[in-house]
Amino acid sequence: MKVVISLIVLTFLSFGNGWAKDGETLFKYKGCAGCHEKTKDSIGPSLATISKAYKGDKKALLRFFRGEAKPIVKPENFKLMEPFQSMLKNMPDKDQNAIADYILSH
Ligand code: HEC
Repeated sequence: MKVVISLIVLTFLSFGNGWAKDGETLFKYKGCAGCHEKTKDSIGPSLATISKAYKGDKKALLRFFRGEAKPIVKPENFKLMEPFQSMLKNMPDKDQNAIADYILSH
């Protein structure tokens, strides 16, 4: 019984809203990794390509997340990214920050 309870608590902690998730976990959990690989451009540009385009400018990347700035990496393919920009826009600041840090670390 104890084990079951611990498992439930652990699951709740790792997926619950209040739990601080690191950028990489969020990136996978939100489905971003399905289109963005680390170093190879696939459906979406790779994290390395995005990071290079933004040159460490986290403020600019956050503006894109919030829909305040136009895409600069591959604007012609933005249609695919658009629903995920809406998702990013609605995330709490700390999650947006964690994902931005994770992308720019490539
Ligand atoms: C269905 C595939 C798909 C998914 C899932 C996806 N993206 Fe994208 N993403 C793209 C495509 C295609 C582009 C290229 C268009 C563009 O530059 O906006 C892109 C571009 C980007 C860019 C570069 C924006 C720019 O300035 O051009 C960032 C940053 C980004 N995605 C982050 C994310 C994050 C974070 C998630 C998860 C919340 C995510 N993507 C999920 C397809 C996807």
